[in-house]
Amino acid sequence: MRMRLKLKTVFVLYFTVSLLGLIYALMQLGQRCDCRGHDMSKDQQISQLRGELQKLQEHIKTELNKKTDVPKIYVITPTYARLVQKAELTRLSHTFLHVPQLHWIVVEDAPQPTLLVTDFLAASGLTYTHLHKLTPKDRKLQEGDPSWLKPRGAEQRNEGLRWLREMGAAAEGKEAAALEEAVVYFADDDNTYSLQLFEEMRYTYRVSVWPVGLVGGMKFERPVVEDGKVVRFHTGWRPNRPFPIDMAGFAVSLRLILTSPQARFDGDAQMGFLESSFLQHLVTMDELEPKADLCTKVLVWHTRTEKPKMKREDALQKQGLGSDPDVEV
Ligand code: UGA
Ligand code: MN
Repeated sequence: MRMRLKLKTVFVLYFTVSLLGLIYALMQLGQRCDCRGHDMSKDQQISQLRGELQKLQEHIKTELNKKTDVPKIYVITPTYARLVQKAELTRLSHTFLHVPQLHWIVVEDAPQPTLLVTDFLAASGLTYTHLHKLTPKDRKLQEGDPSWLKPRGAEQRNEGLRWLREMGAAAEGKEAAALEEAVVYFADDDNTYSLQLFEEMRYTYRVSVWPVGLVGGMKFERPVVEDGKVVRFHTGWRPNRPFPIDMAGFAVSLRLILTSPQARFDGDAQMGFLESSFLQHLVTMDELEPKADLCTKVLVWHTRTEKPKMKREDALQKQGLGSDPDVEV
């Protein structure tokens, strides 16, 4: 009896499954196949294939970007609290996210790390070190001072250098060998950087240089190269400075920084001499390594962000209707 029941169950199951299979097969017969290729013209097929090729090329590029066997770039950025700070840092971080092997050293001009920058960096997805160093009051620009009166970011860049030298002294073995290859770049928080710039500077033996766009009241400033060597500088102002070059226009090998402890930025330097105060400890003009197609391409721009006007905000605040101060801008 039990045996017969079992056989019956098996039979019913078998019948149901076969029936379902048959229904499914019949349903498929009525469907149109996904054969877009047949209905497309040759031109459409070509453009579809082109699209696919482009996607594949982009994929290969992003995979290549993950490469780890290239010299590291340490980027030192001075930054200070103001209305546009988070916007500047956002723009900068989105550039850096596309650069392989980049370590961002952010140095706040503040007595202690701020919550805004701390939270921002934690969420940035970048490898970073967060430092701070307050510019002493007598060296800092005061409200109403012309922007050229005192150098900006000098103490912060020196703090970044201090951290690098401390790290360099502590490194051993493989880590120390990797530092030999690394390069250091000073990236202000308001400039505009192309991705190509970082690949140009990545292999720097001593100091590499390139043009900077929209700086010094010129379309661009640049080192002038003859027979592969820098022979002078194209600049509109005091071309006889030791290095008439903007901060954004050079990168230095970490090895050179580690072996030249005297090299630092002079916070008391005269206008336009901040870069020279650092570089003259490290190289001669003859030793500069021209990049960006022998300094013929502009890959970084000395852009400056307009200070936002707060006329309406101030007016509303007087009526107690100002923007919610708990919202971070
Ligand atoms: C130009 C150069 O591009 C700077 O690299 C150089 O430091 C400056 O001149 C100078 O001669 O000192 P500029 O656009 O005038 O730049 O300077 P900012 O962009 O206002 O400041 C340079 C960096 O220092 C920025 O990253 C900024 O966030 C930071 N900074 C500025 C501070 O950390 N504290 C300040 O009080 C002001
Ligand atoms: Mn600037």
